[in-house]
Amino acid sequence: MQFKSVFVAVFIGGSLLIAALIVNSQRPARETSQPSSAHVKASGKCAECHRHETSAVVHQFERSRHAAVGITCLDCHQPRGEQKKTEHHGFMLSAELTSLNCKACHATEYEQFNRSRHALPAYAAVNGPADASPEQIAQGEKYHPGTCTRAPNGLANLEGAGAKTKGCLVCHNIGRPNSDGSIGTCTHCHSRHNASVAVARLPSTCGQCHMGPDHSQLEIYSESKHGILFEAQRDTMNLAAPPKSLTTADMPVPTCATCHLSGLDGGRVTHDTTERLSWWLFAPVSKKRPTYQQGQDAMKEVCKKCHAGPGIETFFQDAEVVVASTNEKVAEVQTLMKELRAANLLTPQPFDEPIEFLDFDHWHYYGRTAKHGAFMGGADFVQWHGNYELLKVKVEIEHLAAELKARGAK
Ligand code: HEC
Ligand code: HEC
Ligand code: HEC
Ligand code: HEC
Ligand code: HEC
Ligand code: HEC
Ligand code: HEC
Ligand code: HEC
Repeated sequence: MQFKSVFVAVFIGGSLLIAALIVNSQRPARETSQPSSAHVKASGKCAECHRHETSAVVHQFERSRHAAVGITCLDCHQPRGEQKKTEHHGFMLSAELTSLNCKACHATEYEQFNRSRHALPAYAAVNGPADASPEQIAQGEKYHPGTCTRAPNGLANLEGAGAKTKGCLVCHNIGRPNSDGSIGTCTHCHSRHNASVAVARLPSTCGQCHMGPDHSQLEIYSESKHGILFEAQRDTMNLAAPPKSLTTADMPVPTCATCHLSGLDGGRVTHDTTERLSWWLFAPVSKKRPTYQQGQDAMKEVCKKCHAGPGIETFFQDAEVVVASTNEKVAEVQTLMKELRAANLLTPQPFDEPIEFLDFDHWHYYGRTAKHGAFMGGADFVQWHGNYELLKVKVEIEHLAAELKARGAK
């Protein structure tokens, strides 16, 4: 009898243990393998449900500085200002989050961002003043006159709504006018739930938008000595170092962020990416910005954290020679195109004749690439993707122009 009950007890106990092991092995790994030592486990009602619904959101949040300092889900998701509210399992949430939700705690970063061309000018480059309120337009115009009142972009309209929504605007939305009165989004560079400076300091983060033949900054950076060394040494760098105390010991090699935003070795962090620039390089014929001297001095200050002064002066002088010679080459083609238009050898519509595409590629791809390459250390982009193409396409344009002239007026 006794033997039998011991057997039963052992049998039941063993079965329970096996059942428990099976149940445990079927529990999602996320509950048994939390990265809990370095990260804070999210708690509270939102996390309770969202650990099962959209669980990756919770895990991203748990890796963030926000979680470490006690910011909660609701701190970001609550409605601010004029935002539309929605009821959600007993909570009042904002229907759509914008930079206004971040501004509540990061007003300085918001103000700087709002002065940059990443704000409304970026959106207006595609859509013109459409969708923006008079106040939003006035703010953008204050820092970048003429950029927010221009007409919607002709090419975007020719290509149609699909190309504009899933193409142009995916990049240019960085400065979209929000219906709550704020401008733009912070999460293109920081991500939503990780909200990290380490992510923002990666070249690939900027390269989401800053790539391709018309603004090949990512490709140029990758072939520069800076890009090569970053690739080789990134594992030894401290990309998550707090911005206010970032030193060259954390990052001895610059990324896009270092030159354009960071405050290295006591320098000032800025979200105004316009602050350290001296030329309008993206323009067909580049002019000096009104803030030329301040812009160039501020950028040189960054270089001088790592390099000696004379080399930097020579570097900028040589780059400015490329700007001047590219300007000359582009202006020559522009004069020729004007002559063709004046003589009625082209239709008044843009982008309906092959020569118009060549003219566009000439400055928009090759001219820009040559200039950007010169300032960011991309020799191949100055030469083979830049000056060689500038020469080749000019010859093609001249031949087509001669044919049009021989054929006579339309
Ligand atoms: C009782 C469970 C529960 C609670 C509590 C809860 N959520 Fe949710 N939440 C859900 C479910 C379920 C969804 C829908 C997921 C889907 O549609 O696939 C959701 C969706 C969402 C969405 C996406 C909404 C959309 O329209 O895209 C957000 C944002 C969100 N929750 C935030 C929160 C926040 C912030 C909290 C705490 C203040 C919270 N939730 C609390 C269950 C919950
Ligand atoms: C730093 C601010 C911030 C914090 C903190 C935050 N969120 Fe979010 N969350 C966002 C933003 C921004 C979006 C994108 C919203 C949009 O596009 O309108 C978002 C989107 C979401 C979505 C929709 C995701 C999708 O891809 O459909 C869910 C669900 C969500 N959050 C839940 C949470 C939960 C749960 C927490 C806490 C564990 C939390 N959030 C904490 C900023 C935050
Ligand atoms: C309720 C206040 C609050 C809100 C809302 C908020 N933050 Fe923060 N944020 C903080 C605090 C506090 C810190 C930590 C500051 C520190 O480390 O000294 C922080 C830190 C950061 C950092 C630095 C992270 C790092 O890796 O060091 C970034 C980037 C950031 N926030 C972006 C955002 C973005 C983007 C939003 C909106 C989607 C947002 N924050 C919303 C309070 C907030
Ligand atoms: C979501 C897309 C996107 C991301 C991500 C992005 N940018 Fe931009 N950036 C743009 C667009 C669009 C413009 C052009 C704005 C205009 O002049 O209309 C621009 C312009 C700039 C300019 C020129 C500003 C001026 O005054 O002419 C600099 C410099 C710049 N970005 C640097 C960066 C850096 C550095 C990063 C990463 C830390 C970055 N960007 C991330 C889209 C982006
Ligand atoms: C892959 C992301 C991306 C896409 C797609 C994109 N752009 Fe851009 N655009 C940028 C970036 C980045 C710059 C900044 C270039 C620079 O300063 O060197 C820019 C610059 C511009 C500029 C010059 C800056 C200004 O304010 O005048 C115009 C105009 C422009 N884009 C219009 C468009 C239009 C129209 C489309 C679609 C037909 C488009 N872009 C598609 C990323 C993009
Ligand atoms: C173009 C990319 C980009 C955009 C857009 C952007 N940030 Fe940043 N942000 C960065 C980078 C890069 C850093 C780190 C600078 C450094 O290396 O020290 C940073 C740092 C920060 C920090 C930490 C600052 C400190 O001194 O500790 C906060 C907070 C922050 N950003 C908030 C925001 C908010 C809020 C917005 C939207 C208004 C925003 N960011 C938009 C790239 C961006
Ligand atoms: C070593 C420093 C450095 C690094 C790294 C760097 N840049 Fe630059 N960038 C410059 C300089 C210098 C200029 C020209 C500034 C001027 O106008 O005087 C420039 C110009 C630009 C412009 C041109 C704006 C216009 O007028 O058209 C953009 C956009 C830009 N950089 C984005 C990036 C991105 C994105 C990356 C990373 C993939 C990057 N930069 C990496 C130094 C740097
Ligand atoms: C955070 C430090 C840092 C910053 C900021 C920085 N650089 Fe560099 N740079 C380096 C390092 C490291 C190298 C590689 C030196 C070596 O070969 O040992 C380098 C290499 C170069 C080279 C190539 C030298 C050669 O002969 O191979 C040039 C040119 C250059 N940098 C220009 C600049 C300019 C211009 C700026 C500012 C717009 C700048 N750098 C900003 C760290 C930096």
